[in-house]
Amino acid sequence: MKHLISIEDLTKQEILKILDKAEEFEDVALGIRKCRILEGKILANLFFEPSTRTRISFETAMKRLGGEVVNISAQEASSIAKGETLADTIKVVSNYCDAIVIRHFLEGAARFAAENSAVPVINAGDGAGQHPTQTLLDLYTIRKECRKLEKLSIALVGDLKYSRTIHSLIKALTLFNSKIYLISPEILSLPEDFLEELNGNFQKARLEEVIEEIDVLYVTRIQKERFLDEEEYRKVAGSYRITPQVVEKLKSDAIILHPLPRVDEIDIKVDKMRQARYFKQAFYGVPVRMAILSEVMQ
Ligand code: CP
Repeated sequence: MKHLISIEDLTKQEILKILDKAEEFEDVALGIRKCRILEGKILANLFFEPSTRTRISFETAMKRLGGEVVNISAQEASSIAKGETLADTIKVVSNYCDAIVIRHFLEGAARFAAENSAVPVINAGDGAGQHPTQTLLDLYTIRKECRKLEKLSIALVGDLKYSRTIHSLIKALTLFNSKIYLISPEILSLPEDFLEELNGNFQKARLEEVIEEIDVLYVTRIQKERFLDEEEYRKVAGSYRITPQVVEKLKSDAIILHPLPRVDEIDIKVDKMRQARYFKQAFYGVPVRMAILSEVMQ
């Protein structure tokens, strides 16, 4: 049984193996080559929080590999709305399928699901916790687009407090000797326990101080849905924005990533600039999730 709940469930070697496998699946993801290795397998996509990329790319990955998908795409559409517990839901669904992908609004829900499942569980985002499959596709994108993973200068910008993509990515980057710059409004700073884990391998900075040096500019949306106090959100809404003027200061071979969805933190005029890679990054979710599914189901 191979659950994927946290990026720390994988060693560096296991991460690299998934990235290598994803390379092999790229032509399948593009529909150029047929591959039916998951024929006869069923994936259950349980999404108790909204998603476009993660849900659809898992479904695409499964279908491109010959498998089938069953879905819960809203809490209201499942028997949880009638009072069924998450534990019972998982016990039942795990007897219908070969693996479960779960997104939930509560941190820890994916691990709890794994404890109640008869099949592998993949965390597709648990509250402000982790989003390990996003990290694998982020690493894949960086390796493809920068042609290396080691010793890069990476600026993490935006909501470092609530962004689960950041919480997973930052742990992975420590495996690759990255120079990490943390750039955020004060109230959206990376939580203290993450800072301790980074063991001094980071620097808080202002974007203008480091922009000419960085290889990767990783931008995140302010996670409005995680704020308990609307007034706190209003204090930081719109407080940073990547514009063409900012991008012009980047190195010409630097790349801009964003897990998406974007709200207003990257000007749409940036989309056509050579450094923008966030839509390509979203595509890479398909081969990377093919690699993950083939690992846990075969
Ligand atoms: N990046 C990401 O998790 O996007 P979705 O919320 O659309 O799945």
